[in-house]
Amino acid sequence: MKDSQARTIYLKDYKAPDYLVDRTNLTFDLDPHATLVRSHLKVRRNPAVAQDGEILPPLWLDGVDLELLSVSLDGELLPAQRYEEKPGGLSLKVDRSEFDLEVQTRIAPEANTSLEGLYLSNGMYCTQCEAEGFRKITFYPDRPDVMSVFTTTIIAPPSYPVLLSNGNKVDSGTTEDGRLRVTWEDPFAKPSYLFALVGGDLQHVEDSFITSSGRKVKLQLFTEARNIGKCAHAMTSLKRSMRWDEEVYGREYDLDIFMIVAVDHFNMGAMENKGLNIFNSACVLASPETATDAAFQRIESIVAHEYFHNWSGNRVTCRDWFQLSLKEGFTVFRDAEFSADMNSRAVKRIEDVILLRTSQFAEDAGPMSHPVRPDSYMEISNFYTLTVYEKGAEVVRMIHTILGPEAFRRGSDLYFKRHDGCAVTCEDFVKAMEDASGADLTQFRRWYSQAGTPVLDVEDAFDEEKGEYFLTIRQHTPDTPGQKDKLPLHIPVTMGLLGEDGTPQPIDANGEVEMVLHLTEASQTFTFSGIASRPVPSLLRGFSAPVRLHYDYSSTQLQFLMQHDTDPFNRWDACQRLALNSLQVLQQQYRAGETLQVPETLIDGYAAVLDDETLDPALVAKMLTLPSAQELAEQEGKIDAAAIIAARTFLRDAVATALGERFLARYHALETCRPYTPSAADIAERSLKNTCLAYLCASGNEDALMLAKAQFDRGENMTDTAASLATLVEFGPRERAELVLEAFYQQWQQDTQVVEIWFGLQSGSPTFGTLERVQKLMEHPAFEMKNPNKVRAVIAGFAMRNFTQFHREDGQGYRFLADQVIALDKLNPQIAARLVTPLTRWKKYREQESRQIHSALLRISDSGTLSRDLYEVVSKSLDQS
Ligand code: TRP
Ligand code: ZN
Repeated sequence: MKDSQARTIYLKDYKAPDYLVDRTNLTFDLDPHATLVRSHLKVRRNPAVAQDGEILPPLWLDGVDLELLSVSLDGELLPAQRYEEKPGGLSLKVDRSEFDLEVQTRIAPEANTSLEGLYLSNGMYCTQCEAEGFRKITFYPDRPDVMSVFTTTIIAPPSYPVLLSNGNKVDSGTTEDGRLRVTWEDPFAKPSYLFALVGGDLQHVEDSFITSSGRKVKLQLFTEARNIGKCAHAMTSLKRSMRWDEEVYGREYDLDIFMIVAVDHFNMGAMENKGLNIFNSACVLASPETATDAAFQRIESIVAHEYFHNWSGNRVTCRDWFQLSLKEGFTVFRDAEFSADMNSRAVKRIEDVILLRTSQFAEDAGPMSHPVRPDSYMEISNFYTLTVYEKGAEVVRMIHTILGPEAFRRGSDLYFKRHDGCAVTCEDFVKAMEDASGADLTQFRRWYSQAGTPVLDVEDAFDEEKGEYFLTIRQHTPDTPGQKDKLPLHIPVTMGLLGEDGTPQPIDANGEVEMVLHLTEASQTFTFSGIASRPVPSLLRGFSAPVRLHYDYSSTQLQFLMQHDTDPFNRWDACQRLALNSLQVLQQQYRAGETLQVPETLIDGYAAVLDDETLDPALVAKMLTLPSAQELAEQEGKIDAAAIIAARTFLRDAVATALGERFLARYHALETCRPYTPSAADIAERSLKNTCLAYLCASGNEDALMLAKAQFDRGENMTDTAASLATLVEFGPRERAELVLEAFYQQWQQDTQVVEIWFGLQSGSPTFGTLERVQKLMEHPAFEMKNPNKVRAVIAGFAMRNFTQFHREDGQGYRFLADQVIALDKLNPQIAARLVTPLTRWKKYREQESRQIHSALLRISDSGTLSRDLYEVVSKSLDQS
């Protein structure tokens, strides 16, 4: 296997920068094929590393895919022998410790399909600089510990009337040849990864926000004209985020203007560039007619996430990219709490935990496993992972649990105050939390350096005579690539005990009914006295730590917890455990060639949940949703795709048959004629209604399919329309399904976002998303290999969300994915490296699948020169012994 430039970077090799850049003045002359970039830097030897009488080291400037036109130092054009262009940058001989440097380069945004650096999206200029994209714009010390004050001038033809960059607009006019010229100045020193530029023919909506100290901030959201009607929800979300960050963290916004721009071509969700956030249009634009509830909620949380970065990321930034979780883990924790406050806390927690257990646990157990703070990387883009983001957020949440909310707030205040304007480390964060609270987080720090998901084995005993109850908890973390013999972690386990009649038992001297157990050793026993009868333990409430917890619950105990636990998260979790147990039994029966048996306990449990009118409908919907095939796969030692599918389908049909009348009654009860709102209460009702509809149709019942069709025809909002369409596609007769799919496309073909839903419904469907159909979708005029959203809808929809078809027996699913990854790597390495993920888990499968997946990986590695992104993932995956 060849790669363009494999090199491993280690955290232990970190060195402070040789030079600092106090000011960065940029001028862009925009042109699709030849954009001229002039950069004027005020450079100074870093006093922190300078020594008396030293010989000055050369100045290193990162640069990739740039055409260098000229370099001047203090106004003097440098001859070629003063600098050397090397792979990845420019090395410059320096003879003074302070100087002005001018560099001119030429770049071609039109040809840039990597969506990193400066590129075009539907004819609009935009940038993406995190993590290392700025080096595709100009030669620069492109590392987050170099912070500079930026001034940006943009020159463009009048057909690009909107020209934006970070900070405040300080000047505008026209050039002699009639082009537009605008200058922006950002007073806050920032690393280059937070730089942004936008140029296009855009419309905007405007609003304002008065901060807690009474300053008025202008809020603007820019999009192409056709999308201007889809901005309201993001604007509302932004104002709520601004208020929440003042109230919960005491953080006020710091500039007079905050802008958001929506672009169609984007590698991730959104980017927190200072004062000028750039969003994937799918993560910001919504209307009731075109966006689902899930999209509304995603928008609310991503708008908040990027806004919150203004403090956790921008004002206080990362020293180096190993510290990525410093900003991402903390900011995900902040946005999750925001969403929990705006909506149902329990439901938000359940959704996050499903993601963690299904995908982060799999990452932690796979070949790319890494700690929240990685020790090394080849390509940093590969480390924008569930581990850094989601597990990183869990680590912050555990600190919150250990310290309690008041001390945590003192800790965050201290962190922001102590490090404002600085580029710092995860250690600095933990230290601030310790200093403000007096807590000792020495052992807790291992969460940052140790990879892998800890396993907790819990056993209990009851001494009836003494009224004592004992919980023994053992912890161990499995080996991960490059990391053996893990040490015990400090794990907070929030728990309670329920008495025979379902009431919470007082468990400490103060009569508290809930407490946090602090596990610090490999094995520990906790004793509870004054317990009258054998209790049922409710463990790891709210998922207080990202671990796998094993306790041998009986079905009766789980049913009991489903009904009586005071923690709604654990009620759901008990229900999930019961379903998982049933599905495991069904898989065994399938493998043994036995007749599958209907699990009556689970069905009774579901019936009780459906009958309980006091439960939040959204929680009911979550409880009645079977664990996904992916989640089941994650539970297995060796994945048997056929057994998983058979068990899941059988159970779904059994539930549908047994509870049909209840589903129907509940479905009708939840039908409303109220106009759409994305409020938590309405979303909850729609989610349960559509869960009922899916079960009703699962049995193929004609009356039920008519209900789905009627809901589709009413077309009240995209949530209900998409849900009924998905149901008809999955369970309806083939020809009719084709007709509704076609009707849907005809109605919505002008709307890219709805077309993405349409793609996803097909590629992800176990019946429709066959390989042949997916290949045909790739020839559809609306498909675009250069647009990551389309690739995600069609190719990832098939490879990551269509367990049944992707794992077809002849291995063609794997081969198809390999071919697409190879093709994509030429266009967009970041997306190629993400898309290959399903092939990296070959070791988890049984022999035949394992061999097929492995040879698909080999097919990629033999295909020629790979990008550094893809090379890292493929080589690490093939390396598993
Ligand atoms: N910092 C962004 C976020 O979490 C992540 C991001 C956006 C990103 N675009 C990217 C990371 C491109 C790598 C590459 O909010
Ligand atoms: Zn982020």
